[in-house]
Amino acid sequence: MADTDWAGAREQMLLDPTVVNLNTGSGGPLPRRVFERVTALRGRLAHEPMDFLLRDVPPLLWRARESLAAYVGSEPHRLVLTTNVTAAVNLVASSLRPAAPGEILMSDHEYTPMRWCWERMARERGLTVRTFRLPDMPRDPQEIVDAAVAAMNARTRVLFFSHVVSSTGLVLPAAELCEEARKRSVLTMIDGAHAPAFTALDLAALPCDFYAGSGHKWLLAPTGVGFLHIGADHTRTLRPPQVSWAYRPPAGSGPPDERDRFGSTPRLRRLECEGTRDICPWLTLPEAIGFQAELGHDRIRSRMREMTEYARQRLTGWYGLEPATPASAELSGGMVAFRLPGGTDADGLRRCLWERFRIESAVAERPDGTLIRVSTHFYTTEAEIDFLAEALKDAQDRG
Ligand SMILES: Cc1ncc(COP(=O)(O)O)c(C=O)c1O
Repeated sequence: MADTDWAGAREQMLLDPTVVNLNTGSGGPLPRRVFERVTALRGRLAHEPMDFLLRDVPPLLWRARESLAAYVGSEPHRLVLTTNVTAAVNLVASSLRPAAPGEILMSDHEYTPMRWCWERMARERGLTVRTFRLPDMPRDPQEIVDAAVAAMNARTRVLFFSHVVSSTGLVLPAAELCEEARKRSVLTMIDGAHAPAFTALDLAALPCDFYAGSGHKWLLAPTGVGFLHIGADHTRTLRPPQVSWAYRPPAGSGPPDERDRFGSTPRLRRLECEGTRDICPWLTLPEAIGFQAELGHDRIRSRMREMTEYARQRLTGWYGLEPATPASAELSGGMVAFRLPGGTDADGLRRCLWERFRIESAVAERPDGTLIRVSTHFYTTEAEIDFLAEALKDAQDRG
């Protein structure tokens, strides 16, 4: 197989040449053709809104759903399209009615607003939230399974965890965790904000109850693309967050899970329809997926790992940095985090990297110290990582 021309592929991305972008984990830039596609669709919406919404959108929406389903190993009638993962997690948390008293169990590394979402739900339903500690730098995925299993008990109603941990990029053994939860009749919801494109997602092989994912991180789709995959037993569980036209299916509607004339199914449309709004980002899923398919999904993931490995080698021990993400291929992918020396001022470092060097990289304070997270997609270069290393040296030298 011919070597991929990564420099040529990078040319196809909309990247600000004055910025070193090492933060795809927070939001991915767009391939030029995806931007052009979403802009063209918005042009149609601007010129002739009703013709676009009534006649153009339905086939495009179904095509987007089919394309996403094939890509993540789901089925079109199981995928609720959402604005983002936040919306998908809120949709599930606000719909579930677990038996009380009981508890929602989650890892101690969940994304803060998602934890808040479950805390509110728990408070309102007479439940509690409990966290279990993820092992520090695990060597084997089984250590993570063991930690979750030890934490589950007869009160546990829901297990919520990130497929890829936001602060470190640690990949959790999602299938094994779901199997263990299922054995104990515990519902599972996975926060897969980072998973699409970062992992080879196959939802058919994941015995979860709900899975939320983002398009606008590693998949490089426009901002405003998220999804919720509904497990087989939960077709009736979810309540629409907004009551709109689809709340009562129009006369003559077909079965709940069959394609309708809107590009949805009656069941999905009830959950997706929020009145009149711009869903153009959803419609570009085939272009975003197609862009990476042309480069090769597995080849992209290998390239990400190559760059992560470069960052690990370059930065480990550099001015006191220690890796906070295991190197094993099972437990990591396109992100590597480093623990900064004790006493590092996170805000000051973030500001310095941006204002002095135009480097975009996540710096976060965690209870156990400050972390810098380096995201590496196929367009990341060794020179960018070297530049980060020099910037960190400079920041350290200046104190
Ligand atoms: C693990 C995790 N969950 C949820 C979110 C929220 O994603 P969004 O803002 O797209 O809803 C993020 C965002 O970075 C995340 O990292």
